[in-house]
Amino acid sequence: MKSIIITGANSGIGFECALQLANTAPDTQIILACRNIQIGEEAVKQIQRKTGHQNLVCWVLDLASLKSIKKFTTDFAMLPQPVISALINNAGGLFMGKTSYTMDGFETTFGTNHLGGFYLTLLLLPFIEENGSITFTSSGVHDPANHTGIAPPEYTSGRNLAFPEISNDSEMVVAQRRYSTSKLCNILTAYTLHQKLTEKKIRVNAFDPGKVPGTGFLRTLPSPMRLVAGLLTQLSLLLGKKDIFSAATSGKRLAKLACSQELQLLSGIYYKRGQVTDSSADSHNQTFQAELWKSSIILTGLEQQETSVNLQLS
Ligand SMILES: NC(=O)c1ccc[n+]([C@@H]2O[C@H](COP(=O)([O-])OP(=O)(O)OC[C@H]3O[C@@H](n4cnc5c(N)ncnc54)[C@H](OP(=O)(O)O)[C@@H]3O)[C@@H](O)[C@H]2O)c1
Repeated sequence: MKSIIITGANSGIGFECALQLANTAPDTQIILACRNIQIGEEAVKQIQRKTGHQNLVCWVLDLASLKSIKKFTTDFAMLPQPVISALINNAGGLFMGKTSYTMDGFETTFGTNHLGGFYLTLLLLPFIEENGSITFTSSGVHDPANHTGIAPPEYTSGRNLAFPEISNDSEMVVAQRRYSTSKLCNILTAYTLHQKLTEKKIRVNAFDPGKVPGTGFLRTLPSPMRLVAGLLTQLSLLLGKKDIFSAATSGKRLAKLACSQELQLLSGIYYKRGQVTDSSADSHNQTFQAELWKSSIILTGLEQQETSVNLQLS
């Protein structure tokens, strides 16, 4: 049986995406890749109760640990039919507070939101079938033109983002900038991979869920700010403001982009509000794309024999 893998599927948009896929892909194994096994298994039970899907499983995956990612992919390779029809890199977060680091010593936002998904994708690439898909959940905050109120991205180099210098800006601004930059990195990676995988007929896209209140996304904000931000977004949702969606709507769109027949021809695109949309000028910057690709390989220690795409840039 083929598999669909969704990271961060225990909550929010990822959970709703898994629920939708359980309805639309009854004959595919759906792997909810989550860092907390108890919470992940609870999500599996909920989806099973709602859909009756027989092949839902939770596997442990901590994107803040290269060892955990490697183990996940090694275990996957040992399945009787290790074939992936869709890989959905959805997990991610905004990490407020003092700078923290992943198990491998990378700054947490860049390490989790970009490097973790990058390493997972490259290690799983040999198992993704022809006409299969890879999707990265990005965000409108990657583009300064969207005026989201979040500090805009500043791409410097993979090394600087992994090992940042002390900044004079407030913790809030630093965390926001790291988040928006990591979401830019998701698109830079999607576009580079799309170029490299066209011949193999593997589709690679970036997804923008819009603003989605009610998920776990704001959990690292101080409680009063979380309350105010949550209320404001809920109010805007009720007022039908543009670009604010429920987790169910965004999860369904993500599932559609990754798996529907209707969108089978889309690759190398940015998908927002259920439509192909322009992403920022920086996301098309080929110098950034190449720098990020090369530094991500060095930082993760990825070796050519571990993946099925040529790691050299032409
Ligand atoms: N909500 C929004 O307004 C919004 C807007 C634009 C983009 N996004 C993006 O949408 C995606 C989903 O976010 P959401 O809003 O659904 O928030 P969420 O409910 O907090 O979901 C995030 C998921 O990522 C997982 N995750 C975080 N760090 C991880 C790690 N080290 N290893 C494995 N999994 C990890 C979380 O697991 P735990 O539960 O264990 O923490 C959770 O399952 C994110 O990439 C986010 O950047 C969200």
